[in-house]
Amino acid sequence: MKGVVLAGGLGTRLYPLTKITNKHLLPVFNRPMVTYPVECLVRAGIRDVLIVTGGNNPGDFLRLLGNGKEYGVEKINYAYQEGEGGIADALSLAENHAAGGRICVVLGDNIIEKNIHRAVEEYRTQPRGAKILLKRVDDPQRFGVPVIEGGKLVKIIEKPVKPPTSFAVTGIYMYDDQVFDFIRSLTPSERGELEITDVNNMYIQRGSMTWSELEGWWTDAGTFESLLKASNLVAQGGANND
Ligand code: DAU
Repeated sequence: MKGVVLAGGLGTRLYPLTKITNKHLLPVFNRPMVTYPVECLVRAGIRDVLIVTGGNNPGDFLRLLGNGKEYGVEKINYAYQEGEGGIADALSLAENHAAGGRICVVLGDNIIEKNIHRAVEEYRTQPRGAKILLKRVDDPQRFGVPVIEGGKLVKIIEKPVKPPTSFAVTGIYMYDDQVFDFIRSLTPSERGELEITDVNNMYIQRGSMTWSELEGWWTDAGTFESLLKASNLVAQGGANND
């Protein structure tokens, strides 16, 4: 399975920090943000990785990650997303990299405590479809939130005003090669983006989405509050631990 880190977008919620650099190059405790999702993939045994970046300072990703060896990546590729067309738009740039195989996607601002190795292995044995990882949170209205009925995932609602559960859909997604056809069929949402939640709902409608609960803490780092929280959590115990 190959890996994809999505580090595009403009990071407007972190302005003015993102006026002078890319959100994913900002420090989370003692390292630039993007190194955590890269390490997340490598620790799960995924060492062929595409970095999709965008916005400001794309050259600095190459300066930081280089050929990836320092971070345990065997093969690294880079792609550039024009504008801020959404997570699914950024993912569409990974079609050649995926080359008809399966991918594990990690959002560039998602940081987790534990190794996702087990979930990745579960997905490898799944005959087809996709897998997402859920996490209970105090503020589900900030995220994609699943509707679960009788233990069954029915649909995902993006940033619901009244969240149906206290689960968030984390930014770790596993897909088969259908994902690129699904993305081609999307139309932009009200916020003008191609939504990854719409892609996930297509898998759910076809009965080919599985989920499991993420172990350990999880946070995004895309707001001032969550960036600070991420730094504190990493300082206390590190990330991507076995
Ligand atoms: O963090 C998990 C959440 O991420 C999910 O629960 C939501 O369902 C999902 O939509 C997403 O929500 P956000 O609104 O918080 O996503 P945000 O716009 O902050 O983008 C998260 C990362 O995705 C960002 O750090 C880089 C990548 N991205 C985002 C956009 C909009 C891109 O690569 N390109 C983009 O155009």
